[in-house]
Amino acid sequence: MSSIPVQQYPHLAGFDGLSERCMKDHFHLYEGYVRKYNELFAQLESLQALGSVRAGGDKESLKVDIAFALGAIKNHELYFDILGNDGHEPTGELAEEIARSFHSVPQYLLDLKQTALLGRGWAWTAYDLDQGYLFNYEAGAQNGMPVWNTFPILAVDLYGHAYFYDFGNNRLAYVETFMGHIAWNRVAARLAAAKAGKIGRLAWVP
Ligand SMILES: [Fe+2]
Repeated sequence: MSSIPVQQYPHLAGFDGLSERCMKDHFHLYEGYVRKYNELFAQLESLQALGSVRAGGDKESLKVDIAFALGAIKNHELYFDILGNDGHEPTGELAEEIARSFHSVPQYLLDLKQTALLGRGWAWTAYDLDQGYLFNYEAGAQNGMPVWNTFPILAVDLYGHAYFYDFGNNRLAYVETFMGHIAWNRVAARLAAAKAGKIGRLAWVP
């Protein structure tokens, strides 16, 4: 795809502890990544049209930058998508899958929190389509999701821009506050989509 549209997330307000200003700035950052990706991809297409295959030149750095911008888009869309105020715990098939993978929901939540505190960029819960289980991953960059054929169902942004305005250096307070605003029904929907093989871009639906 040569041009990606910005997804809208009209629900990004009213989260106790996560300020509207921080959310708005964060959304603008996401819009910037979409703009950046589209610019970089257009540059790459121009180079390809010219038949440029020069190793180590512009094309190589474009490939790295495009992967970084695209990773940022996907990470933020997941992060915004699973924010909500419904407040309930994981239930149904999601809770069963969590129990199979982590022994219990409380142990999963503890592992997610610990993984997020280890991370410098992102933490994700992802479903391994090969092995059929959930795992919490962390990585230090937008393009750092480390394992192929896993499908992320939850993302925690650990870049300073996600929390510094509201929490300063208190990452633990941020992670705990964020986890209190996870819309588990959205996470469950993504798990169901992964299992059904319908793992396309999910637009936010109120
Ligand atoms: Fe972010």
